Amino acid sequence: MKNIRSEIVGCGSYLPERIVSNEELAKRIDTTDEWITSRSGIRQRHIAAEGEFTSDLALNAAQKAVQHADIDPAEIDLLIVATTTPDNTFPATATKVQSRIGMANGAAFDVQAVCSGFIYGLAVADNFIKCGQTKTALVIGAETFSRILDWEDRTTCVLFGDGAGAVVLKGRGEDDDEQPGGNGSGHNIGRGILSTHIHSDGNLYGLLYVDGGPSTTQTVGHVRMNGREVFRHAVNNLAAVVDEALDANGLARSDIDWLVPHQANKRIIDSTAKKLDMPAERVVLTVETHANTSAASIPLALDTAVKDGRVKRGDLLLLEAMGGGLTWGASLVRW
Ligand code: ACO
Repeated sequence: MKNIRSEIVGCGSYLPERIVSNEELAKRIDTTDEWITSRSGIRQRHIAAEGEFTSDLALNAAQKAVQHADIDPAEIDLLIVATTTPDNTFPATATKVQSRIGMANGAAFDVQAVCSGFIYGLAVADNFIKCGQTKTALVIGAETFSRILDWEDRTTCVLFGDGAGAVVLKGRGEDDDEQPGGNGSGHNIGRGILSTHIHSDGNLYGLLYVDGGPSTTQTVGHVRMNGREVFRHAVNNLAAVVDEALDANGLARSDIDWLVPHQANKRIIDSTAKKLDMPAERVVLTVETHANTSAASIPLALDTAVKDGRVKRGDLLLLEAMGGGLTWGASLVRW
């Protein structure tokens, strides 16, 4: 059987219009810009407008990704929305996006792995493509975390924001790599998702969770977190999964051109980069402008670095994330 690889052929992102600065938050709760910036690197977050839902953010990002990929939305035969903040308990937010973007075939569903959701979604789509069941996939990370924050709890509410990011994946035969790319330059050689690696440890469920839900309290609930423990596990788990991804591909840390991490917290990102011996200028950092947008943060960062020209054809990207569950994962992508 011909080996198939998933190639990222387009990306897009969207942030709601309203920006809330640390200074504005400090007028409402007992915090300071200095505390938030020094502990997390966050300077501001975007907050969805009243009546603006996760599906709206997702659709905006997806439309930009589809445009960037220059495809007809009707080609998409798998649509995944990674989210912890769906519009409704059911149906999946992905089905709403499916209808609005004009995708008629295949399947649309949500993936729930909190901040690791985008890596999980990418892993699902990549495997569907590799086994030949999907030709074109749209993977979206979209969140309205502002709706599940306890705005009285300064230990959590300062850390999160709303946003969305998306990528379009297309299957391509590895044999095609031997042929020159569309521009005759041979640039397609080895492009695509090299591998995805996902993990979870349900014993750590209580470190980061929402204290509500349809089956427990019949309310939406609020984010609760043991920040110190989450921090400790994040740094250890991310280092381990990054090495797993490199080993699986026979690559070394020095081969990575860009670290595109989940944008939770600058200190977690700095610690991971340090373990990888990655200089700061090789790390894509966007957390200061949009805070932790959970499943949306990796595609938001990726889109930023692709559109501003930092990420170039042939670069090796390392995507990684950790979130509630605990869940974590990584993916190596040849751009
Ligand atoms: N403003 C001012 N003071 C605050 C605030 C705030 N917003 N929040 C907490 N404090 C106070 C605390 O009350 C405490 O005061 P005390 O010493 O008088 O009791 C003091 O600051 C220190 O609190 P700690 O929780 O010990 O602060 P720490 O240095 O651990 O930083 C933080 C907290 C930023 C949450 C850190 O633990 C962290 O980054 N954890 C990772 C969590 C994370 O990023 N989660 C995101 C989801 S998971 C993921 O995406 C990887």
